Amino acid sequence: MLETTTKEFQPRIVAFCCNWCSYAGADMAGTARKSYPANVKIIRVPCSCRVNPTFILRAFTQGADGVIIAGCHPGDCHYTQGNYFTRRRMTLLMSLLDFMGVDGRRLRLEWISAAEGNKFAQVMTDFTATIQELGENVKLRDLRCKK
Ligand code: FES
Repeated sequence: MLETTTKEFQPRIVAFCCNWCSYAGADMAGTARKSYPANVKIIRVPCSCRVNPTFILRAFTQGADGVIIAGCHPGDCHYTQGNYFTRRRMTLLMSLLDFMGVDGRRLRLEWISAAEGNKFAQVMTDFTATIQELGENVKLRDLRCKK
């Protein structure tokens, strides 16, 4: 008898987390034993404004199905106004993604403080579910990167 196995789609998610708040929020989630999907791969950055929009496009072309940028709440940025720059850039990038035909829900911006471990786990779980629903991102994938 031929056995068929249906493999559930496991999205690849890149999370850029600022060192001072969101990365500490991830730590807090760990300390509080709040779990979030293992699909989320965290990249620690000094500030959310360190995330150049080309990093996000590159993540998509390299196989990410979703990208999330997490930073300090407005007014709390360690570098005073870094997250304001992030907010402006991401608004423009969302328009660009829309223009390119990429579903805007694949990119998310969140403000998560160091004390918000619960929020961190909740946001990552919710984002993973959204991307799972959207399916694989093939629009921007660079087929030369396919293994
Ligand atoms: Fe966290 Fe700037 S240091 S967003």
